[in-house]
Amino acid sequence: MTIAAREIHLKSRPTGVPGPENFEFTERVLPVPAEGQLLVRTLWMSVDPYMRGRMVDRPSYIEPFQVGQPLEGDAVSVVEQSRDDRFKPGDFVKHFYGWRERVVIDAATATKVDPAIAPLQAWLGPLGVPGLTAYAGLVHVAKLKEGDTVFVSAAAGAVGSMAVQIAKIKGARVIGSVGSDDKARWVRDELGADAVINYRTAGDLAKALAEAAPEGIDVYFDNVGGDHLDAALAVANRYARFAICGMIAQYNDETPPPGPRNLAALIVKRIAMQGYIILDYPDLTNETREMAGWLAEGRIKSRDTVVEGLENAPKAFIGLFSGDNTGKMLVRLAEG
Ligand SMILES: NC(=O)c1ccc[n+]([C@@H]2O[C@H](COP(=O)([O-])OP(=O)(O)OC[C@H]3O[C@@H](n4cnc5c(N)ncnc54)[C@H](OP(=O)(O)O)[C@@H]3O)[C@@H](O)[C@H]2O)c1
Repeated sequence: MTIAAREIHLKSRPTGVPGPENFEFTERVLPVPAEGQLLVRTLWMSVDPYMRGRMVDRPSYIEPFQVGQPLEGDAVSVVEQSRDDRFKPGDFVKHFYGWRERVVIDAATATKVDPAIAPLQAWLGPLGVPGLTAYAGLVHVAKLKEGDTVFVSAAAGAVGSMAVQIAKIKGARVIGSVGSDDKARWVRDELGADAVINYRTAGDLAKALAEAAPEGIDVYFDNVGGDHLDAALAVANRYARFAICGMIAQYNDETPPPGPRNLAALIVKRIAMQGYIILDYPDLTNETREMAGWLAEGRIKSRDTVVEGLENAPKAFIGLFSGDNTGKMLVRLAEG
């Protein structure tokens, strides 16, 4: 029996904020799985800001998407057919072939996920790239210490909401910045941030940050860049550490914006600023275990913004750039 599956391709490279016209729906007749392969059905897929970078044809840490080819990204699926002894139908797996209803993949590219440890979608959130990116950025890059004051931008997003909570668990004072009052309430009242700035209404961000951190910041966890990085440089303490995780404020710019005006603060304050990619940390087994423990104990709270159906995946992705999500933006393709 032949199986056809819908998938989403890159139709054209976006200029500025992506639109529905940049995506194309097609249907593919799937091959029968060969020895060592699996047929999997996607239940959950992740949309992530870094995918915007892959829509541009330029060298980076990961290959650009190709026009006319399917998009890629993390997904959780159920195995429907297996030609590999390690997997059987009904197993749940995580893989990198999202944006498709069903796909035939090499079993070597799939990792089993255990719904007894955490709900399936958590493997795309706290126990997936967002959670581990937050963990690695704070602990391994910024060398977070108990008593540090930490500033986290995009604090109500997938990575930011994890960074806020991990920093609190590790004994830091935490200030978040977010784009709405509802998000501010969630980050302060539910996630435990000590202060939250709504950057859309705060006016002068550096002034608002200085008020929220009267003794300065020791760590900046940057998800945004731009004016947030300026503000963090202005308010940083001597020997502050900046983990540069992302700069979403400029992902849709055609030309790079001017750099921070106050970069000389790096010298005056001996600030260490390091960019990193989660791929630099291939083995975070212990960190994943620790996160799973915190999740089970309720010390880490996770929230998802769920968009239903593959047909709405482009909308979910585009919504990341206007703050449509609180917590992790996910697309549910089928019930698990
Ligand atoms: N280095 C790595 O390995 C790595 C891995 C994963 C993610 N990242 C980066 O981490 C950052 C967060 O990713 P995520 O997956 O957790 O996404 P996310 O924070 O869940 O979603 C993006 C959020 O960014 C905020 N935002 C969008 N445009 C903005 C702007 N112009 N200025 C300020 N805030 C803006 C929005 O929240 P508001 O409503 O609060 O504005 C939006 O909800 C991104 O920069 C991403 O590229 C890096």
